[in-house]
Amino acid sequence: MFDGLESGLLEDARLDLVRSVGAEYRLVRPTAPSTFPDPRTAGFFPWRLPVEHSWPCSPAKTDGFVEKAAQALAARFGSRGARTVLVGSLDGGSAGSPSRKLASNLRGRALQLVEGTESIRDVEALDPTAPVLYAMVGKAGLFAGIASPREANGFHPGGEKFIKAGGISRAGGKIAGALHHLRLFHEPPARGAHWLELGASPGGMTAELLERGYQVTAVDRAPLDERLRGAPGLTEVHADVLHFHAPSGHRYDAILCDMNGDPRDSMRGVLRLLPSLDSGGLVVFTLKLATEERLARIHELTGEVLAAAERSGLALLSLTHLPANRREFTCLFLHGTPDFDPARA
Ligand SMILES: C[S@@+](CC[C@H](N)C(=O)[O-])C[C@H]1O[C@@H](n2cnc3c(N)ncnc32)[C@H](O)[C@@H]1O
Repeated sequence: MFDGLESGLLEDARLDLVRSVGAEYRLVRPTAPSTFPDPRTAGFFPWRLPVEHSWPCSPAKTDGFVEKAAQALAARFGSRGARTVLVGSLDGGSAGSPSRKLASNLRGRALQLVEGTESIRDVEALDPTAPVLYAMVGKAGLFAGIASPREANGFHPGGEKFIKAGGISRAGGKIAGALHHLRLFHEPPARGAHWLELGASPGGMTAELLERGYQVTAVDRAPLDERLRGAPGLTEVHADVLHFHAPSGHRYDAILCDMNGDPRDSMRGVLRLLPSLDSGGLVVFTLKLATEERLARIHELTGEVLAAAERSGLALLSLTHLPANRREFTCLFLHGTPDFDPARA
């Protein structure tokens, strides 16, 4: 997604590369005390685990790997109060792939051996601040540590699982993923809440919101897909967002913006409409970086967008890269809660 930026990013974040442990995972060591990750760069590091136990090896060539690995996890983490054990694959792959099977077998055995842990079916229902023993396994070996889902920036080991969304556009997966990610920090808006959606056409996100029982006012210069015509809860507005005015006195519970173009203009479009957003309301904003190649420019642009939001009273809950994101980040903000600190919530 952001090919060619890795060495610059590690340098900016003051991290030394120890080794690659799979196509998407890096074992790194901080070179200086840092506030990793900086909000501007957090999207480049969407899942992070403090590695407290590692066993670099080739599991396929190691006799009794699962048993030995589970015994080691039990010895190392047995009395640490982890609520459950979640194991992910460093090598990706589909459900039946060797690495995924290995992860699943290791999880099953570790749950039997690691004191105090229990099997949890619905990972999203975990308290996002509860300690979890996360382990990642693959061709590079085993890497494990304890973190809360909020600290790791995702409930699932390795990050958010890909969330499938309906067929109108790829963007549906972005709002489905964003609402899932939001649970790390805050409850999603209640059923029936009213969303103002900016840049809604053709309507993949709109469809996802309607499916969750929300009302949606969808604004775009282009029309929505005809499958959405007459959908209950939907108000379609054909307009330029920069000229749209909310009905007098009306307040929305949340704003969603997926407009293309310069993200500073898109953020200006959101901020202009903030008086129509309830205090404590949610903003979900796609920060599009498609035209930016250079890391310094990406940092600058991201910094400008975040600073403008903050000046207008939007508190950043999270900036991340979701599985359905392309060259863009998803930002979550709360309106009018400048003292909100996700680390303390
Ligand atoms: C990436 S698409 C949105 C996809 C949509 N979120 C979905 O789920 O299908 C971006 C949209 O932003 C709209 N857009 C960009 N600038 C706009 C503006 N100033 N006023 C209205 N619509 C705008 C474009 O017309 C386009 O439909």
